[in-house]
Amino acid sequence: MSVSALSLTRFAGSISGFLQVVSVLGLLLLLLKAVQFYQHRQWLLKAFQQFPSPPFHWFFGHKQFESDKELQVIMKTMENFPSAFPRWFWGSQAYLVVYDPDYMKVILGRSDPKAHGTYRLLVPWIGYGLLLLNGRPWFQHRRMLTPAFHYDILKPYVKTMADSVRLMLDKWEELAAQDSSIEVFQHISLMTLDTVMKCAFSHKGSVQVDGNYKTYIQAIADLNNLFYSRVRNIFHQNDTIYSLSSNGRLADRACQLAHNHTDGVIKLRKDQLQDEGELEKVKKKRRLDFLDILLFARTENGDSLSDKDIRAEVDTFMFEGHDTTASGLSWIFYALATHPEHQQRCREEVQSLLGDGSSITWDHLDQMPYTTMCIKEALRLYPPVTGIVRELSKPVTFPDGRSLPKGISVILSIYALHHNPKVWPDPEVFDPSRFAPDSPRHSHSFLPFSGGARNCIGKQFAMNELKVVVALTLLRFELLPDHTRVPIPIMRLVLKSKNGIYLHLKKIH
Ligand code: HEM
Repeated sequence: MSVSALSLTRFAGSISGFLQVVSVLGLLLLLLKAVQFYQHRQWLLKAFQQFPSPPFHWFFGHKQFESDKELQVIMKTMENFPSAFPRWFWGSQAYLVVYDPDYMKVILGRSDPKAHGTYRLLVPWIGYGLLLLNGRPWFQHRRMLTPAFHYDILKPYVKTMADSVRLMLDKWEELAAQDSSIEVFQHISLMTLDTVMKCAFSHKGSVQVDGNYKTYIQAIADLNNLFYSRVRNIFHQNDTIYSLSSNGRLADRACQLAHNHTDGVIKLRKDQLQDEGELEKVKKKRRLDFLDILLFARTENGDSLSDKDIRAEVDTFMFEGHDTTASGLSWIFYALATHPEHQQRCREEVQSLLGDGSSITWDHLDQMPYTTMCIKEALRLYPPVTGIVRELSKPVTFPDGRSLPKGISVILSIYALHHNPKVWPDPEVFDPSRFAPDSPRHSHSFLPFSGGARNCIGKQFAMNELKVVVALTLLRFELLPDHTRVPIPIMRLVLKSKNGIYLHLKKIH
């Protein structure tokens, strides 16, 4: 045998040896994973033994939930399982879904952290800002940012909100003349982004006029969908596998687009502050906004926030500050369009308060009780945040005596709570009188902004915006449903419609 043939044989031998080692290691890894899968599954089965569940596949879990009918399936399941049921995402991952106000009260009264398994998937996008932080860092950030929502700060925002909505309504006047229905969610998203950019980031110019911002809105819409499907895919839990998948690459791209937007906002302000100088000088010159508060903030040690922390807060507030309100407003408009008698009553209330609507102020916002009742009833039927997740840091016992060990994740389904017939008789009926001042209610039956220490920090901001936008819109337009395109609610980071929200707009003369 020649020398080269011999070395070729040796080479082939070492390759096959290498492959054998890799196969054995691969098999061992697979075995290890299977054992972990089995053990975790047994632990979950034991933990949930007091909570019966609808039947599920040992590996794929509750496949029947995995479609865009998930909300509807949860409603159906709720009929047979009082208070709560375990929802198996796959054979070794399960959450307890709860929709009973007493259960909600117990969980929201504790200080369990956000469930890491779910919320960590948002980190590449919004980082560890207020929404995702836990423990002491969360407390510090919350204390630092609370002044940004003081009512002295919120008061002048009413005018800013009114200016943003008027711009959208002007555009709607042109579109309304075309006589076809319009998809309102996209217009409203641009308008709420415009508002948050002006209020929290003192943006000059208008997001609604500058077409560039559509890229950011589209990135957020993509991230909503990608997050939803990643949570439900066992193979996409691993970061490396996900980053190699097509969805992972799309998510990466969408995060980059979202970050380009927020980085630009931060850079602009940093440059501006360099010209303006010290905090005291800035304070004399203008009102501090959310971004100033972040940039001037000092931790307990006197350090300023890192660039990473600042970016996370800006990404968090940019998203939370516009997508939630866009969802809320779109569904409120749909609810009013399908209930013309309530819409007309709101309009009359607003007309007698605001006349032609040329001026709306903070003081007006408390003087529209019927409109507020309709807004709340729409938030009940269509809560923008459909559910939140906590991981038990210690065992819990619910008022009916059933308990769960530490480590279990609990989904507080706000959507199911709001549609629970035991809490809300005839839950699908739009009935604003449920929110009349004297109507009795469980303290935890209506939670669009969650509750307890980790409730929504932007609740007052959001309620103001909803009132301003609804009031000014009803003065200009009659909202009518498009019967050929009935929206289908789907669960995403915020409540969306599978086929958009189309409305006919009729100009009021
Ligand atoms: C209709 C509009 C809104 C709804 C329905 C809503 C709902 C919620 C809910 C349910 C939570 C709890 C999330 C959880 O526990 O995982 C939350 C938290 C939060 N929201 Fe809102 N939100 C709205 C508007 C806003 C606005 C306008 C802002 C900011 C300007 C905002 C900023 C936040 C932040 C930063 C948190 C995290 C708070 C913390 O953990 O301390 N939200 N929101």
